Amino acid sequence: MLIAHISDFHIFTETSETSLVRPDIIPVVRRIIDDVAAFRPAVDAVMLTGDLADGGTMADYATVRELLKPLPMPFFAVPGNHDKREAFRAAFADLFPFEDGRFALYETEFRGIRILGFDTLTEPGPGGALCRERLAWIERKLSQPWEGATILLMHHAPYLTGIRFLDGIGLASGRRELGEIVARYKGELRILAGHIHRPSQCCWNGALVTIAGSAAFKIELDLHPDHGSLEPPQADEPYAYFIHHVDVSGDVAVHPRYVRLPEPGKGISHA
Ligand SMILES: [Fe+2]
Repeated sequence: MLIAHISDFHIFTETSETSLVRPDIIPVVRRIIDDVAAFRPAVDAVMLTGDLADGGTMADYATVRELLKPLPMPFFAVPGNHDKREAFRAAFADLFPFEDGRFALYETEFRGIRILGFDTLTEPGPGGALCRERLAWIERKLSQPWEGATILLMHHAPYLTGIRFLDGIGLASGRRELGEIVARYKGELRILAGHIHRPSQCCWNGALVTIAGSAAFKIELDLHPDHGSLEPPQADEPYAYFIHHVDVSGDVAVHPRYVRLPEPGKGISHA
């Protein structure tokens, strides 16, 4: 089975929320989607880990849905901090079985894989948090045994990447508690995240975690411990999304799939 993991499109139709999103992000995402759709052997499912929009208007989500249309396979998504939770829920209510309540949480299944859509947002603001209600939800879900793999989708990374600026606008609470819940889970669990805008992987409390990069803008690998308040500069690096190859033996290999993109234009000004 092949699973594509893509993150942080930051699609905007009129005004972008962040300054760094390349202005041609719509054709860029079209090219990435075409690459996923054309990959052979065919990708079975696509996982999108937040910041689908950069502002989160209904027009943004109409554009996102239009861009995803060429995908012949199912996709699953969670919101990021540049989405708007309510608009996101409304835009995808026909696809993801959101539970009642104030968060965007859902459980679904795809060919024997349990998919948990987890909501890490603290609106408004760039950071994330896991409150008692959401921790109880994930604990309840992971206390129910599942024969196959479970994929947990969340925008904010569960582990500290060492990129201090991004870690500083990551999960402000609930990280340790989530780690304990994950460590207790005995089945196969993979966690897919975004937010960092560069690819990263970690074995965290026994689970494989992958963070997919972003085509909207890429940040330099800044691991300086004193750079917590210093936003890393943009990186001039190739773009890749991830393809997870799940072998019949159960082995999971994570491959970067490079997509050649046009030179980004100059960043557009802050909204
Ligand atoms: Fe993002």
